[in-house]
Amino acid sequence: MKKTEYTLPRGRFLKPLCFALVSDLHGGDPEPVLRVLREEHPDYILMPGDIFERLDGTENAHHRNALTLLEGAAALAPTFYSTGNHEDGGVRSWSPTWRIAVKKRDYDSRDLAAIAQTGTVFLEDSFVLKDGIAFGGLCSGLINEGRKPRLDWLEEFCRVDAPRVLLCHHPEYYEPYLKELPLNLIVSGHAHGGQWRFFGRGVFAPGQGIFPKYTAGVVEDRFVISTGLKKSRKIPRIFNEPELVFIRLS
Ligand SMILES: [Fe+2]
Repeated sequence: MKKTEYTLPRGRFLKPLCFALVSDLHGGDPEPVLRVLREEHPDYILMPGDIFERLDGTENAHHRNALTLLEGAAALAPTFYSTGNHEDGGVRSWSPTWRIAVKKRDYDSRDLAAIAQTGTVFLEDSFVLKDGIAFGGLCSGLINEGRKPRLDWLEEFCRVDAPRVLLCHHPEYYEPYLKELPLNLIVSGHAHGGQWRFFGRGVFAPGQGIFPKYTAGVVEDRFVISTGLKKSRKIPRIFNEPELVFIRLS
């Protein structure tokens, strides 16, 4: 795992801040991540999804790893978490039959209680105000009608008179849904850097296809995409080390 740092203009934020962007752990080993978070002690920790492999009440090592990450992070700094497509059913969430069967997001209540106990703020198409900053979480829309994310709450979020930070698992939502909104910082994951990276470009990302546009880095000084933390065994990452991102507002 590498540490990636970006420095962005402070803009609407009142003081210099450091945000850690922790994405796509997929139930992997949380200890290397927590070690670096402890060294860097960011002001806020943002987790835009695919931290768990499932939120269906299954208890296994992946599940415990994800909870350990949330607990360790929340002990260090205010931590905000919104879900990705894996919490919604993983690869099954891409299948039309699965979507018809599920129809709505329905996380296991024991999982939600365990997440709450870690002290992490869970953002399910919702936002909170903390220290004069509005933090929102836009969940995956793959299991929704038309495979679209829920956008209704964003109008109210964008009316809040505060800097607005949005966690959004899917980077491909930026152009159709987010680009025109007055958001001050948007963080995403999901694309895993395009899995194989050549000449600074990813090869494939779900939802974007081949040679995807949004897989890593910073767009328009406010949209930051992490290549994520997952070390894949089935499809190896090539020239694409998993990363933990720190966003510093100068
Ligand atoms: Fe994902």
